[in-house]
Amino acid sequence: MSAWDDLAADYDRTRGGEERGDQYAADLDDRLPPGPGPVLEIGVGTGVVALGLRRRGRGVVGIDLSAPMLAQARARLGPCLVRGDACRLPFPAGSVAAAVSVWVIHAIDSPLDLLAEVARVLRPGGCYLVATTQRPAPDDRIGAIMAELFLRLDAVKPRRHGPEPIAAKVEGWAHHAGLRTEVETIEREWVNTPADEISSITGRMFPALRDLDEDTFADVTGPTLEALARLPPGPTTRRGLGEIITVETP
Ligand SMILES: C[S@@+](CC[C@H](N)C(=O)[O-])C[C@H]1O[C@@H](n2cnc3c(N)ncnc32)[C@H](O)[C@@H]1O
Repeated sequence: MSAWDDLAADYDRTRGGEERGDQYAADLDDRLPPGPGPVLEIGVGTGVVALGLRRRGRGVVGIDLSAPMLAQARARLGPCLVRGDACRLPFPAGSVAAAVSVWVIHAIDSPLDLLAEVARVLRPGGCYLVATTQRPAPDDRIGAIMAELFLRLDAVKPRRHGPEPIAAKVEGWAHHAGLRTEVETIEREWVNTPADEISSITGRMFPALRDLDEDTFADVTGPTLEALARLPPGPTTRRGLGEIITVETP
């Protein structure tokens, strides 16, 4: 059972739901080739991004490893989904014109295998858009506090691909697979409260928090919970920065 299986029921509530999916879909739609041709979403999760793409007139096909995440996606999107591993895509060589992934590549154990699969399935002229997880904009106070939490977590449970922004690594993995890349920074805004983040932390809604013992959990999260509790309690406009990496066949 993966952390995503465990988190599926709470995922949309704690990650911005369809509103976030729609924001990413808008950013991806602008960069995808024109036309209704199907877009493969690798790591489709609960389907919030795919829904936004569909609302913009695009056909979507989604793949994900987690059956509980896919069950949420199926309720949202119907039967355009397949359970499978991004590192062993069940599609013929040269059959995919456009693919996307949002907040997925950091969660993949072997991104080199994923990019090799993308290179295999993309047709000549095809593209794969990778939206990375975001980091706080300089004026996002809640984000800065949360970023410190993840740095403290690195000391007890290091991130799979390290703490530094992942875009340069994605480019390296793509180049290794013989693909070209272009990186653009995007900004996203949303509203939440310090209490929302406190509830996500105490409910262990982040995969890295789930299997910490109680003492380690208290050591790692204590300073964050205190800092969040000191902030003004009302709704705050949050701002995050991330990258969209366009990966293309040469
Ligand atoms: C953070 S969620 C992102 C979901 C969705 N893209 C979104 O933006 O809401 C990461 C997703 O990647 C999926 N995932 C992780 N490793 C995978 C793999 N090897 N193959 C397919 N999906 C995978 C997880 O099951 C999970 O649904």
